[in-house]
Amino acid sequence: MAGAVAGYAGGMQDPEPVAEPELDPPHGVGPWEGEWPSDDRFDPELLAHGDRRNVVDGYRYWRMEAIVADLDTRRHGFHVAIENWQHDMNIGSIVRSANAFLADTVHIIGRRRWNRRGAMVTDRYQHVVHHETVAEFADWAKAARIPIIAVDNLDGALPVDQAELPERCVLLFGAEGPGLSHEALSAASGHVEITQYGSTRSINAGAAAAIIMHEWCRRHAG
Ligand SMILES: C[S@@+](CC[C@H](N)C(=O)[O-])C[C@H]1O[C@@H](n2cnc3c(N)ncnc32)[C@H](O)[C@@H]1O
Repeated sequence: MAGAVAGYAGGMQDPEPVAEPELDPPHGVGPWEGEWPSDDRFDPELLAHGDRRNVVDGYRYWRMEAIVADLDTRRHGFHVAIENWQHDMNIGSIVRSANAFLADTVHIIGRRRWNRRGAMVTDRYQHVVHHETVAEFADWAKAARIPIIAVDNLDGALPVDQAELPERCVLLFGAEGPGLSHEALSAASGHVEITQYGSTRSINAGAAAAIIMHEWCRRHAG
């Protein structure tokens, strides 16, 4: 798998159970009609009972492991990291966007536990790793030779549309409330922000992450 964290089985280090959500109105496909495919990427349970999961149509009836394996063959060069010091509700939504924009890996820095609700079970298909401290995360990035790009609207940030976003990088976001810590900012080699025009000091961290990931894809995704 290109650039992914070696030895990590994606997204499953936190045992907190979250059921696959039934989307409203119900969508997906019913039981497979006709002769079943013999390809072992297909899941007999799903073929028999239908597939209502939150996956794109191309992955209908596929086993979860087969989907992850296929995503691993084509993951993008960017990683996402977020500081998690106070149970940030945005992490689930950031993981969901990381899945949608095909990030290599999501790095959670600080608290191990995070609220999975907003992830809509997308974390099962996404590599997620935990780092106890910013220093541990920075050591990983240095060893992997991946530049850290801090994302926050603080002094010294370049508007992202005028900044370089390397093809291989880790985009680092701060927690809702405090934003990026000084330690996190000083571990970064680049610092970008999203230009705002209204009165609020900042946008939601999940929204900021989606904008920056899309900007990376706009420049680099095939
Ligand atoms: C609530 S904001 C942080 C606080 C903000 N620095 C302030 O002065 O109020 C939480 C996180 O969302 C992201 N964020 C929010 N607005 C942003 C913007 N305009 N540009 C870049 N990142 C932003 C950053 O990662 C930030 O650390």
